[in-house]
Amino acid sequence: MDLPVDARGASFLIREAVPEDAPALGAILAELAPIDGFILLSPEEVAGEPSAHGGDVMRANACGGRWLLFVAEQDGVVAGMVDLRAVPLRRCAHVCELGIGLRAGFRDRGVGKALMEHAIRAASAQGFRKIRLMVIASNTRAIALYRKTRFVETGRFRDEVRLGRGFEDLLVMERTLP
Ligand SMILES: CC(C)(COP(=O)(O)OP(=O)(O)OC[C@H]1O[C@@H](n2cnc3c(N)ncnc32)[C@H](O)[C@@H]1OP(=O)(O)O)[C@@H](O)C(=O)NCCC(=O)NCCS
Repeated sequence: MDLPVDARGASFLIREAVPEDAPALGAILAELAPIDGFILLSPEEVAGEPSAHGGDVMRANACGGRWLLFVAEQDGVVAGMVDLRAVPLRRCAHVCELGIGLRAGFRDRGVGKALMEHAIRAASAQGFRKIRLMVIASNTRAIALYRKTRFVETGRFRDEVRLGRGFEDLLVMERTLP
């Protein structure tokens, strides 16, 4: 199997998450939550996130494609994750919402782009017609990645997110799938 390589030439693997990944996934969320401007979850909410619980990760794999959860692994370490959750309404069942995050030491090497491309292929194969996501307006790196993977900004909630330094806009971005 040919593995993708990051910008430093080190190979990594993208695979479906397994229950044993839950502690690492919880650690990624815990790492991102306190940092101003990256994700919507606050540190207090991380414990309630399904991806941080082995039982829920098992359900992710078993729920018929309504929740897809993948990790990037490098040298046996879970470097990052991407997930796609179907909107839980019949009339919107063709839409899923994407979330992505990498541990600090693994960013800016192309792993995020590979995870995005993997998630887009998986969503399309699963029959979704559209992926949407939300991103805090100051998160320029994430927005650059989403634009590169052909997401377009379709909305903006003004002053939606309260962060330590004040209020921030929240962008809605979408990508239609073939
Ligand atoms: C956002 C995140 C997923 C991006 O993944 P990454 O692996 O760091 O990004 P990549 O190295 O794959 O870079 C993707 C592309 O964006 C470009 N890019 C990165 N930062 C940029 C910036 N500030 N401005 C313009 N382009 C930028 C890169 O050059 C690259 O383009 P290329 O492939 O043409 O060279 C990752 O940095 C992360 O987890 N950040 C913290 C959590 C977070 O913000 N999650 C998203 C919440 S909505």
